[in-house]
Amino acid sequence: MSEKIIVFDTTLRDGEQSPGASLNEHEKVEIAHQLARLSVDVIEAGFPISSPAQFNAVNNIAKEVNCNIAALSRANEKDIKAAADSLMPAKRKRIHTFTSTSDYHILGKFSHERYGGTIQEKRKTILQMSYDAVAYAKTFCNDVEFSAEDAGRTDIGYLSEVIEAAIAAGATTVNIPDTTGYTMPSEFGKKIATLKRRVANIDNAIISVHCHNDLGLAVANSIASLENGARQVECTINGIGERAGNASLEELVMALKVREDLFNFYTGIRSEEIYNTSKMVSAFTGIMIQRNKAIVGENAFSHESGIHQDGMLKNRETYEIMTPETVGVPKTKIVLGRHSGRHGLKSRLEKLGYTLDDEELNKIYESFTELADKKKEVFDDDLRVLMGDNVFQEDEFFELDYIQISTGTNSIPTAVVRIKEGEKIIEESSTGDGPVDAVFNAIERGLNIKSEVESYQVRSVTSGRQALGEALIRIRSNDKSFNGRGVSTDIIEASAEAYLQALHRKKLFLDEKENISKSKKLQNAV
Ligand code: KIV
Ligand code: ZN
Repeated sequence: MSEKIIVFDTTLRDGEQSPGASLNEHEKVEIAHQLARLSVDVIEAGFPISSPAQFNAVNNIAKEVNCNIAALSRANEKDIKAAADSLMPAKRKRIHTFTSTSDYHILGKFSHERYGGTIQEKRKTILQMSYDAVAYAKTFCNDVEFSAEDAGRTDIGYLSEVIEAAIAAGATTVNIPDTTGYTMPSEFGKKIATLKRRVANIDNAIISVHCHNDLGLAVANSIASLENGARQVECTINGIGERAGNASLEELVMALKVREDLFNFYTGIRSEEIYNTSKMVSAFTGIMIQRNKAIVGENAFSHESGIHQDGMLKNRETYEIMTPETVGVPKTKIVLGRHSGRHGLKSRLEKLGYTLDDEELNKIYESFTELADKKKEVFDDDLRVLMGDNVFQEDEFFELDYIQISTGTNSIPTAVVRIKEGEKIIEESSTGDGPVDAVFNAIERGLNIKSEVESYQVRSVTSGRQALGEALIRIRSNDKSFNGRGVSTDIIEASAEAYLQALHRKKLFLDEKENISKSKKLQNAV
């Protein structure tokens, strides 16, 4: 009998913690709808206590998306209450509470004496905190997951005690994260087998694993744990996540599917939705997929050498262990053009996984016709980027109204920009080392802002000389980074838009911070 593996998707929580990723609320809801279509078992929608924007995103997903929705919280009452409040509208919900268990983390994060003077005392405090957190979370919902952060480097004796306490308090899932991606598959598998043997009440909970990819072993470690008793895997689309990322959903799911003969496991995932989900996440987060990425990379199903092509023509199975159709790679490229109507556009977008209301359709139709006027053929990837760039964007403080560049060999690059900030019109000019630098300087002068550009990239969305250019930028202010994205057939214009979006997000963050501190002052005064 084949056994079901629970797929817990954390693209919107751990995935969103990827350096360079940034999703607004609308994009998160749209991705959550697509994850539900993909048929994941649990969607971890965010970390509600961390900001009002995170709280709202989890709350909106809980309202709209038909799936089991999880929210993360540290092991304290304030965090757990925020998670429970944000999940209120969900039909199926899970509170996911965690605390650190390795000595590295205990000595680093719990160094204060209030947690105890010695490591033994601190461990005792954390054990009690874990129990209390689960027991408190249980007062809001039955489905409670407990994670022992850095379990990969936690002493097995102590880990067993903490897991036993969490289950005794009512945890229905116990998660064993390899937070730093440190372990080897044989070692991690053994850890799971030992927990299964040692923890007296282990059969009262599902064992989950959450593997990071610092040594490129996240998927291998996850599979080794399934072979040793784990029945839930935590993963992300395209493997995005903290640092080198998390176990990639598509790799895990397809490994289990292609090698079902070996494992005898199955998942509920509709694998034909993998390709669209991967493309949507990449377009919205701005994190590109490497060409040779397993399952969803551009090269995953291309056969280059003559010998391989010849073999494929004779029998596909010579070099293909799964067909592109199984993961939803389209057989033929569908192209829309200037004459495609609103109806054709809507139905193409629906095939790509987007659910649109009338207002959103009007917005995308306008951008589509503008693009189709400049570019004869509009491809799926163009549409995905337009969706991220226009339809799901929040209204921004700064709008690029006009841009003019003068540049050339032996001339000084100069830019003139006109920006609308609400009713206010700002016009400014500047020179620079190149046209992009000149534009950024003009924007900074006009808005009287100076920002450190941490990274800046331009790529073409599809091939050909009329291709859309996508500019991605990350700026830094104190210890916080803000991303921006711009799309245009003119890469200088795309760069200016990306920069303005990053500045908008920085302003939004600073305004939110100021409001929070004002309301705290007010509360203190009362
Ligand atoms: O990597 C980790 O340990 C986590 C936990 C919060 C589950 O993301
Ligand atoms: Zn993680």
